Amino acid sequence: MNTHLHRLTLIALTTSLAALTACGGGGGGDSTTPAATTTAGTDTTATPAPAAAPAASPSALNGKSLYQANCASCHGGNPAQNISKVLKGTAPGNTLNAIASNAGGMGYLSGTIGAAQANDIAAYLAQPNI
Ligand code: HEC
Repeated sequence: MNTHLHRLTLIALTTSLAALTACGGGGGGDSTTPAATTTAGTDTTATPAPAAAPAASPSALNGKSLYQANCASCHGGNPAQNISKVLKGTAPGNTLNAIASNAGGMGYLSGTIGAAQANDIAAYLAQPNI
């Protein structure tokens, strides 16, 4: 009998405590706190969309026409002959470095050959028979 009473008192106490806590929270700090939570939630949902964009794969065929137009005059029509070490361009960074440092007088290509073009040319140099 006594245990029963104790439980009832506990339940009653817990319920009134919960009610008090809810009331206290609803009073003052309510107006500022939820606003910050909403902003953070919106940011998280917006982030994944732009991440998908920069996934363009290099085009060896485009690299072939870029090579014929911009490189063949010095490196020859057939890159497999590796004239002036052009096959190092299979790593696009080598082409970009060579242009940036004006190696072999290639510096004038800086406005024409960027990272995307160097990537395409690298794909072509890796399979010059396409
Ligand atoms: C004006 C002539 C000329 C043109 C045009 C030219 N190159 Fe070169 N390139 C050279 C010469 C000469 C060298 C050798 C430089 C040296 O050994 O210092 C060279 C070197 C290179 C190298 C080797 C760089 C290294 O790390 O040693 C690569 C790769 C290269 N060229 C790629 C290209 C590509 C790709 C193009 C076209 C977008 C191109 N070049 C256009 C003359 C040219």
